Amino acid sequence: MSVDALTVALATRSYSLDVRPGVARSWPAATAVRQASARVVVTNRTIAALYPELVAGTQCNLRIELEDGERYKTADSVDVIHSALLRARCDRKCIIVAVGGGVVGDTAGFAAATYMRGIPFIQVPTTLLAQVDSSIGGKTAINHPLGKNMIGAFHQPSAVFIDPLLLNTLPDAELSAGFAEIIKHALIRDAAYLDWLEANSAGLLARDPELLTHAIRRSCEIKAAIVEADEFETGERALLNLGHTFGHALEAVLGFGTWLHGQAVGCGLVLATDMSARLGLIDSAAVARVQRIVSAFRLPVRVPAQASTSALVDAMLLDKKNEGGRVRFILLEAIGRGVIRPESVELAAQVIDAHR
Ligand code: NAD
Ligand code: GLY
Repeated sequence: MSVDALTVALATRSYSLDVRPGVARSWPAATAVRQASARVVVTNRTIAALYPELVAGTQCNLRIELEDGERYKTADSVDVIHSALLRARCDRKCIIVAVGGGVVGDTAGFAAATYMRGIPFIQVPTTLLAQVDSSIGGKTAINHPLGKNMIGAFHQPSAVFIDPLLLNTLPDAELSAGFAEIIKHALIRDAAYLDWLEANSAGLLARDPELLTHAIRRSCEIKAAIVEADEFETGERALLNLGHTFGHALEAVLGFGTWLHGQAVGCGLVLATDMSARLGLIDSAAVARVQRIVSAFRLPVRVPAQASTSALVDAMLLDKKNEGGRVRFILLEAIGRGVIRPESVELAAQVIDAHR
């Protein structure tokens, strides 16, 4: 297995995605860190307790421990980071090192995007979801009381250190949630990768380090290629939202936190595949197959009774990415080939009803 770092090559700047067991400890050696005037680690209490060596005071000038949880992905947490930087007289050449899952990465990244109009940051993602999705591509955001991820900025990291060994302590449900994004990558871009995931689900769930490293690398390659082609989501980057239109509606209607984001996306992948089949884009056998794979990774495939179809449709109509009253769905033209299509919500309602 190759251990070369992957690259996200953007028009303005490139950065590396180093995917290797044990690589997390290498972050202090990153060029961007060595060149920085000060190192500021942002993490949360859970990670600091589990991995003290990664966030040790000897490696940084300042360590900021946020509270753990999505409800702390807020302007208040960004203010905590900015205030600590100002008190420590950090200048524009300091660097933020985000060590944690997507919540820490998104919050620390947004703090970096906005401190003194932008300072560098690196990501050391510690959840599977963060390792294959949120740490790559430069989307940073915090939640607003009126909407999730509503306040944000595109701000690319200077480097990403992706260490599959950190996943050994991740709760099972969080691991499965990360696989929803991995299955999504295979569905939109790589049919052979889906075959491989299907054949290796047991080993991946058992956290075999070689299998996990392979999956993370392949997913990072797919995400990097899409971000390189469309950094600011004017087109094909939206393919990364496969399963998310249904998924976000499920999260909102069930109440944020009832299902993990990845659980909602897993169910959303099944619904989006079924919608593709009903539109004649893909063979109907694909629906049963995607359902089997999502289920094999211990993700839900049925819409819970407490989420009514009308409430889910209303939530889809509220999505900020809609065009002219039609909902923009990401669908499949084949396993391995995603497509973006505005469609009516009546069909989405039929699909939801078929998966009770
Ligand atoms: P998270 O950051 O809340 O982490 C999940 C839980 O796992 C937390 O309790 C965390 O403390 C714990 N944890 C993290 N690493 C651990 C480890 N190695 N061992 C044990 N426990 C560990 O959740 P997440 O799923 O990583 O991220 C979700 C967030 O990511 C959401 O806010 C979502 O909006 C965001 N997101 C952003 C992007 C993007 O492109 N920026 C993409 C997808 C999701
Ligand atoms: N998670 C979707 C994206 O990065 O575009």
